[in-house]
Amino acid sequence: MQRERLLKVLVIGDLGVGKTSLIKRYVHRVFSQHYRATIGVDFALKMLSWDQKTVVRLQLWDIAGQERYGNMTRVYYREAVGALVVFDMTRLSTFQAVLKWKEDLDSKVALSNGTPVPAVLLANKCDQRSHGLCPKLPKLENFSRQCGFVGWYETSAKDDTNIDAAVTCLVESIMAAE
Ligand code: GTP
Ligand code: MG
Repeated sequence: MQRERLLKVLVIGDLGVGKTSLIKRYVHRVFSQHYRATIGVDFALKMLSWDQKTVVRLQLWDIAGQERYGNMTRVYYREAVGALVVFDMTRLSTFQAVLKWKEDLDSKVALSNGTPVPAVLLANKCDQRSHGLCPKLPKLENFSRQCGFVGWYETSAKDDTNIDAAVTCLVESIMAAE
């Protein structure tokens, strides 16, 4: 008998960092240059054959960047068991917002034993590295550890870089935390 686990995972980060694009790439294997801001929240579902005994139903909550200024995140975050926190490697302000998103997350949701939900940091748009701020960024390894992330990845929704690896890292942490 296979068991099924439903995991609610949040995808958060500032406006235009690529949350919707990462999800579309991961779930539907497509990418578009066209930007249409998410309003409120969108959903996507991905089934993973996790191991011989377990099927994971990954419910991705794609939260609009503008929601950081609203007061709905507490409602959206409820019962989440993990998060992808995304910034845009080419825009410093979106990196600075990572801490605010992480604090917002940790102040509004936790696992049933009180520990923070596992979160993975994504430095997105790494295909545009040459326009980026790499030299200005602190070493992400240290930064992500200090901020309590379970891991970090440079990703590209455009080129399909590291998205599977990042999700796998998150799901492993979630499954280990149970
Ligand atoms: P909100 O819904 O407003 O919070 O934004 P979002 O984080 O969902 O951003 P979205 O996925 O809509 O992407 C914003 C813009 O960045 C779009 O024009 C995308 O095509 C572009 N984009 C997203 N990911 C990448 C990437 O990895 N590389 C490049 N070059 N462009 C990207
Ligand atoms: Mg969006």
